[in-house]
Amino acid sequence: MHTVQSIADGSKAAAYRQLHEHMSALFADERSGLANTANMCALLYEALPDLNWAGFYFLEGRELVLGPFQGKVACVRIALGFGVCGTAALRRETVIVPDVHAFPGHIACDAASRSEIVVPLIQNGRLLGVLDLDSPQLARFDHDDRAGLIAAVDLLLEHTDFTRIADAAA
Ligand code: SME
Repeated sequence: MHTVQSIADGSKAAAYRQLHEHMSALFADERSGLANTANMCALLYEALPDLNWAGFYFLEGRELVLGPFQGKVACVRIALGFGVCGTAALRRETVIVPDVHAFPGHIACDAASRSEIVVPLIQNGRLLGVLDLDSPQLARFDHDDRAGLIAAVDLLLEHTDFTRIADAAA
């Protein structure tokens, strides 16, 4: 598989475009929210250098609840407005934290995390949850990552049905 790392010396924006092509192929014939978010975090975790966590939280009432992810076991519930995830969700905007130790209220799931980016998932005006990426490197995420990840989330939202995760057995 191609990786963003492999062409990190070139344009990061071009690397993200390549990642988006891979995602479009992955989502072309699949609309399952569970399948697409699971594959997306696996792809991001493998393709992007210097990550120690990549995953999703989904909104349930006034809380974010852990969804598919790659990395260490993480905290399960985050109230809206708390931590980096809850802040990005409440503000409905992407938040980049260059140094998590300097972010008041940061929730440490993995002590190795030093920087973080959280992108909200908003479909038809409805907040669905967030995509969260953590890095053991200070200031790992810049404006190219912001643009690349927002475009990646847009692709996910365009191709995915989040209305249900499972059918209950009769
Ligand atoms: N650091 C996040 C919590 C989630 S973990 O990083 C996986 C936060 O402050 O919201």
